Amino acid sequence: MSEDLEGKIALITGANKGIGYEIARQLGSRGATVLVGARDIGRGEEAANKLRLNQIDARTIQLDVIDQKTIDSASKQIESEFGKLDILVNNAGILSDGDRLPPSQVDIETLRHTYETNVFGVFAVTKTLLPLLKKSTAGRIVNLSSGLGSLTQNSDPNIGLLFDF
Ligand SMILES: NC(=O)c1ccc[n+]([C@@H]2O[C@H](COP(=O)([O-])OP(=O)(O)OC[C@H]3O[C@@H](n4cnc5c(N)ncnc54)[C@H](OP(=O)(O)O)[C@@H]3O)[C@@H](O)[C@H]2O)c1
Repeated sequence: MSEDLEGKIALITGANKGIGYEIARQLGSRGATVLVGARDIGRGEEAANKLRLNQIDARTIQLDVIDQKTIDSASKQIESEFGKLDILVNNAGILSDGDRLPPSQVDIETLRHTYETNVFGVFAVTKTLLPLLKKSTAGRIVNLSSGLGSLTQNSDPNIGLLFDF
């Protein structure tokens, strides 16, 4: 196991499964202490347990990116336990079936919920944790995106991401 991230504290949102879990596993394998952000503490603890079985220093942090109270308490917890944050990975994201419809058929509440999570959630988490990231000697913020968010791809009629209205 390489240990080049020894001493680094990394928070990954939505790390209880999928890409977020794998990011946590890989950062942890390189020696980072990984904070498994999960909106459901049980699912988070299950994932952190699996990581610990792989000799990874993993802790669970309850964090729902659309609930500012949980973001504030995660920030306080990180501050009191570590005093800094080195890596923030904004991974939590959703794509519901309703988002895949042509714009003329998308329900506004579905769209609002997707923006709350994928856009305002990233802003809220990053803004709240910025003071802790600034306490790191080399703070890093990583935002996950998608081809669906690519202006280039969405404006290229040959790629075909554009929906028929
Ligand atoms: N998979 C792909 O092909 C692909 C392609 C491009 C981009 N991405 C991006 O990569 C990221 C991860 O995708 P994935 O495929 O790993 O998705 P996934 O398997 O559906 O996992 C999403 C994670 O985000 C969490 N989450 C959702 N809403 C949340 C909220 N309000 N607060 C905190 N956590 C929340 C989920 O928690 P629960 O378990 O509680 O639901 C889960 O842990 C997303 O940002 C996605 O847009 C994925």
